[in-house]
Formats: sequence, C-alpha cells, structure tokens
Amino acid sequence: MDSERVWGELQQLSGLIRLSASDPVKGADVPSAFSLRSVSVKGKALWQLETRVAQQVFHENLESTELESRLLSLLPPYRQLCAVCSGQTVTFTQYGKKLRRSIQTNDLEGARSVSHNREKSYLLPEGEPVPALVDLGIFTPQFRIIASRSDKYKQINRFIELVDDALRGFSRDTIRIMDFGCGKSYLTFILYYYLTEKRKLKAEIIGYDIKADVVEHCNEIAQRYGYEGLRFVLGDVSRDTKDAADVDMLVTLHACDTATDYALDYALRNRIPHILSVPCCQHEVNLSLHRGGELDIFMHHGILKERMAALLTDSIRAEILKSCGYEVDVIEFVDLSHTPKNLMLRCRLKQPRIPDLRALKQLQERYGFRQTLLALTEERCGQQKIVRL
Ligand SMILES: C[S@@+](CC[C@H](N)C(=O)[O-])C[C@H]1O[C@@H](n2cnc3c(N)ncnc32)[C@H](O)[C@@H]1O
Repeated sequence: MDSERVWGELQQLSGLIRLSASDPVKGADVPSAFSLRSVSVKGKALWQLETRVAQQVFHENLESTELESRLLSLLPPYRQLCAVCSGQTVTFTQYGKKLRRSIQTNDLEGARSVSHNREKSYLLPEGEPVPALVDLGIFTPQFRIIASRSDKYKQINRFIELVDDALRGFSRDTIRIMDFGCGKSYLTFILYYYLTEKRKLKAEIIGYDIKADVVEHCNEIAQRYGYEGLRFVLGDVSRDTKDAADVDMLVTLHACDTATDYALDYALRNRIPHILSVPCCQHEVNLSLHRGGELDIFMHHGILKERMAALLTDSIRAEILKSCGYEVDVIEFVDLSHTPKNLMLRCRLKQPRIPDLRALKQLQERYGFRQTLLALTEERCGQQKIVRL
C-alpha cells in the first residue's frame, strides 16, 4: 500500500481512534495483521501497536510523534487498512496501483440508516467508539455489535438505563460500585465507560469473580485502556469480600445461584444505598423444598416446581430487603425474549432496620427449604441482637 499517500489521507480525518492493517501481499515476511489504537495511560495519550505472530500477540506503546514513521515503515506490504474515527470508518484497499477508499458512518444516525427495524436507541448506541468493547468481543473493529452478543448488549444497555435512573439526583462527582460475579465483565466495562465518559464521574468499580482467567483478562484490558478506576478481584463472594463503608451501588447480573444471596447480604451488611440485582439460575430452594401444605400442587411436575422455587427465592429476597429498610421493586428489566432470567430486584435504602423474619421462618419450617439470604440475615441479625444486649 502506498503508505505516504495513505498517511496524507489519514491526516485529513478527525477523531482517529484505531487503525487495523490486514491482508499482506503473498510471501511477505510480516505479521498477518497489525493494529494501532489510541489509548490513555496514566492520563497520557499514546498509540498502542498490536502485532500478531501465529498465536502470539505483542504490544508496544508509541508516543504520538512516533506514529508517522512507524506507520510508514509498517504499512507497505499490507493491502487493507481500516481507520476508525469517532464519526466514521474509512477503509483503504490497494490491489495493484489503484488506492480505493470507502466510508461508513459510525454514529447512531448511520447505524439507523442500515437497520430500519431498530426499535429504540440505546444510551450507548451501536457505533459508539468504545475500543475496549472490541477487545471484549462485543463490537467488531468498526464498532458494530457482533450478532451473537446482541442480546447481551441489549440487556446491558437496559441495565445502564436503570443505573442512570437510580442515580438521578446523585450529586457527588465520585462513585464506587461493586459488581459481584462479573464474569467476562461486559456490564462492568460498559458501566465504567458510561459513568466516566458520559456522566463525567470519577468512578471506581470493582468486579469480583471466582474465575482466575477472566479476572486476569479483564484486568489486562482495563490497564490497556488506562481505566484506572476499574479493577477485578479474584474471589469467592461467599467468603472473600472485604466489608467497605463507602460503596454507592452493588450490581449483579446473573451471578450464579446463591452468589446472588451473598451479594445481597454484602449490600445489607454494608448498607449500600442502591442495589440492582438480576438473579440467575436458582437451585438451592428447588433442591431442598419438601411437601408440606398448599404449595404441594406445584410439586407434581419438575418444571413447575423449578419455576415456583425460583419465584419463591426471589420473593424471599425481596421480602428480606424490604424488611431491612429498602424500597424494593421487582421488575422485568428486559423483554423475556432476550433472556428467560429477566427479573431484577431494584432496591434503594430508605432507613436501615432490624428485619422481622418470623413469617419467612414459618414458611421455611413448613416446607423445609434452605435459602442462603434468609440464613445469612438470621445469623447477622441474631449477632446484632447479642451486641445490643
Ligand atoms: C452467568 S455468569 C454472569 C457474568 C456477568 N455478570 C454477565 O452477566 O455477563 C456468572 C458469573 O458468576 C461467577 N460466580 C459464580 N459463583 C461465584 C462466587 N461464589 N464468587 C464469585 N463469582 C462467582 C461465575 O464465575 C460467572 O463468571
């Protein structure tokens, strides 16, 4: 590719975010692709060069002043270059002498024009230049949603809208959030991006997960993009979390089974003002539920028992949170077609209280089930009573 000419064209573009070169001429002894993306490291704007050789990926940070000379020397063997800018993506191709250029719009209007069926605009629309989401495998390098991630992206956008609602009237410029069972952390990254870039808050978000590889990967991406307030901690939320007095919000999105209970217990213990929790699969009550009364009718069929146990679990969680002084809404946070696990407990602390668990305990004695949040709350409030004596 005529690198001098392409460099001249690149200088006419504004808001350049990422360059990806691919398709080297046959026989060239160069990596199959390389990319350059703008990153902020400790507040300093740099360009990160990524090259792939076989299965290995190499990174090198360049000063802006080095960009021209490195690009001019790297580019000639490649026949495609994709330049992603804040409003558009420009693709250069050169097969033979002729250099071709095509332009695609990245912004929401552009996204709408190619997708007439789009029902609503997101807080973070497709086309939003968030390079971390490319690394996470949600966006293509042109910031289009990868088809298999589209349901997750919808869920996360809705989640962010609900965070935004919850924070209406939030007047500080710093915020601290915990995400328990963060997994691949799509929500965590998008939330961090939204709070820091859109709401201009100084955010600290800590994601906890029990899987070492995802925690390591997420920390690596957070560092790569200079997301200083975002970090991931390896831990089992049932025992490894440290109490903290100054957390503003706890979020969970599909934290498995009782991990949701430990997260809610953490919020109760630490009097966290906002909880947005979307529970996941539920096994504990289903496996421990016995016959004992009017609810027996649900137990004749496995699928009905399973669903009833899940509803019972979330009802118990909601009652406990309410009894502890939270205002609780149970809402369908996205349409059922996007995920069957679509209930969210949206909670706001009004006035912390010692809960009255008697009705729940009676229910438990009658049906013999185990429920972790109930057990943890009983234990904690029993301890509180002893302290008060
Ligand atoms: C279904 S994934 C959801 C991940 C992410 N929140 C999302 O919505 O994409 C559930 C995550 O919870 C984590 N998890 C399950 N039990 C946990 C525990 N006791 N402590 C910490 N993480 C846990 C799993 O490792 C997994 O990554």
